[in-house]
Amino acid sequence: MPITQHDISRPEKKTSWRCAVCHFIFEGEKPPKGCPVCHSPSSEFILDGAREPLRYDGGKFDVLIINGSTHRAGNTSYMADIAEAYLREREVSCRRFNLSEHAIDYCWCCYAVRAESCTFPCRNKNDDMPAFHQMLAQTKAVIIASPINWNGMSGRLKVFLDRTTCMENLFHLGKHGLTEGKVAGILVCGHEDGAIKTAMDIWLNFQQLGFILAPFGIAFRTHGSQFNSSTDREFFRTDELIVSHTRGIVNNVIEIMQLDTEAKLKGKLVPVTE
Ligand SMILES: Cc1cc2nc3c(=O)[nH]c(=O)nc-3n(C[C@H](O)[C@H](O)[C@H](O)COP(=O)(O)O)c2cc1C
Repeated sequence: MPITQHDISRPEKKTSWRCAVCHFIFEGEKPPKGCPVCHSPSSEFILDGAREPLRYDGGKFDVLIINGSTHRAGNTSYMADIAEAYLREREVSCRRFNLSEHAIDYCWCCYAVRAESCTFPCRNKNDDMPAFHQMLAQTKAVIIASPINWNGMSGRLKVFLDRTTCMENLFHLGKHGLTEGKVAGILVCGHEDGAIKTAMDIWLNFQQLGFILAPFGIAFRTHGSQFNSSTDREFFRTDELIVSHTRGIVNNVIEIMQLDTEAKLKGKLVPVTE
């Protein structure tokens, strides 16, 4: 069929893409090569549209993977990808979330006003966190991945963990907990300093939720000063240890999880919390 003028002048189908890092909106058939505002690569762009709040459908799964990075497809995400792929290889059901794709408000800190005011479900029902609370209550294990940001976890992950206070406070208020006996594995990536401190900061939070840290449950990978932010991607993508360490953590989480510690410890733990 001959091409008509109508075909030629048909306007390009435009789609709106949003940079998950800085929220810059780009209109086009495909996302741009990079973000002109924050310089993130194309992979940080997601389809823009009316955002529905995250809802948990109630489906059962065993492991919740959280990529706590500002980047949905950066170095931390690469560790989360390895973990996710290995869980699927082992036929363990999982759900994975990149926090940068979600709306999570800071903790209102009702607890700091009055311990009894920090209730579960959380008083803030306006964002995606209630769905994460429900998934934390349902899952048997978590794998948490974070970049090192100034010798600590990312700001996004910190906000997420602050928002678990309403689950921790259940123990403090003498109510039934929802998380004791579950298993945690922790993945950290960065340049050179602060990996263990970051992992420990993350762990302290899960410890207060009654989680068990899997034996050999922390993997971190840092590359040292011979690489920089322009070349670290290549380092991580070609590094064999990041793969074997991450798969090791996932294996160890699976092994402990399959002991069914959550069911076996139910009602037997003394929640010593602050
Ligand atoms: C605000 C900020 C602070 C950082 N602080 C540290 C640090 O204290 N130690 C370190 O080893 N790397 C640090 N880094 C480097 C990141 O950990 C590193 O670039 C990491 O690979 C980023 O992961 P991502 O691609 O998931 O964002 C920092 C990066 C940023 C943006």
